Amino acid sequence: MNDMNLAVFLSGDGTNLQSIIDAVEEGRLRAAIRLVLSNKPDAFGLTRAKKADIPTVVISSGSCADRDSFVNTMLMLIEDHGVDFIALAGYMRKIPPEIIEKFRGRIINIHPGPLPDFGGKGMFGLRVHNSVLEAGLKETCATVHRVTEGYDEGNIIATAPVPVLENDTPESLQRRVLVAEHILYPEVLQGFVEGRYR
Ligand code: GAR
Repeated sequence: MNDMNLAVFLSGDGTNLQSIIDAVEEGRLRAAIRLVLSNKPDAFGLTRAKKADIPTVVISSGSCADRDSFVNTMLMLIEDHGVDFIALAGYMRKIPPEIIEKFRGRIINIHPGPLPDFGGKGMFGLRVHNSVLEAGLKETCATVHRVTEGYDEGNIIATAPVPVLENDTPESLQRRVLVAEHILYPEVLQGFVEGRYR
């Protein structure tokens, strides 16, 4: 029996998924990735998952007959794969409240900036780094937080600081924050396995 049966939800490149796959393979994270779920069929994260022999599924509210069937299908997929913990890794959709209720305290997300100031609806990817630069911050961070019904409102579990450099662009900042994310996220997940977070 594994310590954590994980589902990773994503919408894009999946570099955070890759960091989780690597941590599992290297024994730094005692978990099995049971499922990778994407709302986008062309997300490169799906290719990463397939390469690692992880089951994948593409599901979005648009691909289901109605909202109920979307939520029920998502719930069924999670249960059928024996998932007990969900990590959002660049998943750009709101999680239905029914799923949050069922997995209360066992869904976390990684965000590429300080919360709550640089989060909320529409704040993702380069927009976050743009705002951090515009605000003149000397330091930003990667943030892991719990997922609740609001956007980026769940309590913060851990952060990894990243200095903002004089000539940073949103792209250069994004690259350095991503490096911090790739270290932080598997560590936090292992923290849940070891009971350091509950
Ligand atoms: C990551 O930087 C993650 O923090 C961010 O999307 C990127 C996904 O990259 N998430 C958000 O902005 C959520 N609000 P990845 O697909 O390479 O892991």
